[in-house]
Amino acid sequence: MKVLSIQFNHVRNLKNQEISFFSPIQVFYGKNGQGKTSILEAIYFAGTGLSFRTRHTSEMITYTKNTLSCFLEYQDQFSEKSLTVSIEKDKKVFFFLGKKISQMEFFGNLNMIFYIPEDVMLINGSPNLRRLFIDREISQTNSFYLHQLRKFSNLLKIRNKYLKEKLYENEEYTIYEEEFVKCGSYLIEQRKKYIHEISKFVKKIYQNLFDSEKSLEISYKSFLHFENTNSLLEIQEEFRKEIEKKREKEIQYSFSMVGPHKDDFVFLLEGEDAKLYASQGEKKSIIFSLKLSEIDILSKNKQELPIVLIDDVTSYFDRQRCESVLQYLKEKKVQVFLTSTEILNIDAKYYKMEKGEVYEITDS
Ligand SMILES: Nc1ncnc2c1ncn2[C@@H]1O[C@H](COP(=O)(O)OP(=O)(O)OP(=O)(O)O)[C@@H](O)[C@H]1O
Ligand SMILES: [Mg+2]
Repeated sequence: MKVLSIQFNHVRNLKNQEISFFSPIQVFYGKNGQGKTSILEAIYFAGTGLSFRTRHTSEMITYTKNTLSCFLEYQDQFSEKSLTVSIEKDKKVFFFLGKKISQMEFFGNLNMIFYIPEDVMLINGSPNLRRLFIDREISQTNSFYLHQLRKFSNLLKIRNKYLKEKLYENEEYTIYEEEFVKCGSYLIEQRKKYIHEISKFVKKIYQNLFDSEKSLEISYKSFLHFENTNSLLEIQEEFRKEIEKKREKEIQYSFSMVGPHKDDFVFLLEGEDAKLYASQGEKKSIIFSLKLSEIDILSKNKQELPIVLIDDVTSYFDRQRCESVLQYLKEKKVQVFLTSTEILNIDAKYYKMEKGEVYEITDS
């Protein structure tokens, strides 16, 4: 996939503008606070309806305004397409090829990977962040998963409400619980599969790009004992057993103690938990490998290459590593958008950012 152009109105400090892209690698450079991250955010928002900075996308609206819109044209293996997202009165509106659609229909058309300095939180931060990441990634190519995810979150709320109101003797509760198990088991099955698949790619990328001597693995951590759970039915069975074991405690504490909402995954470097043992630099490389593995996953599952957005590229890597990463991306033939505080020593299209304005640098 390739982004052909973007047009944005009232995004953060950016001046309303339209920019067309012709090059495999584009670099936005400029001093601090000029709008570099904001432009990547605008591209990501136009493509996914989400921000990589905040869950409250209305924060992206320019301070003095109350609406925002982003329009993006892209090309996939079939044809040229367009996407629009706007925020009006705190509500997001989505269009695909000029036709209004729902957020569920919108998400997953254009695939993007971003890498920002805060991403190290995926190792250091709470399980919640990792679940959010994995759910978002699977949903990109599996809309049924997204659907089940929403259903599960709803069932979880209902189940907790019944527990709180001590209505667990109620017949309806039993029905909800069975749905909860079925839906939750599907999520676990898919996540487990995904982690297994991505772990192989991540290991290879880490060894190729960062450290040929260390072995990196990702492992899914669940309340279930996976030794005896492979099929969906086995997961369901195990899930029911775990609920039985926790039944009294759940009643005592009034919330659902087992389920995919409690699961997590860990990065193991040389078999040890990276959160505890990896160095700062290693953590950055681990997350970067994780993000790059998305390229392999998407090209395998969807026969498409995602767009790669990397914010503040020189803050993660020294010059040599930066070059090998970009060489890797070039060989993969993905379209890349980078930001940096200085011009890089790479063959790319450069754009200078100044006070929210983008200046295309023409080749001399
Ligand atoms: N909603 C908003 N409306 C207007 N300006 C905003 C809004 N949100 C953030 N800003 C401002 O936009 C400017 C650009 O922010 P941005 O993070 O894009 O800068 P940057 O070029 O990436 O800087 P750095 O190199 O420090 O990362 C900042 O001065 C920021 O305070
Ligand atoms: Mg920035």
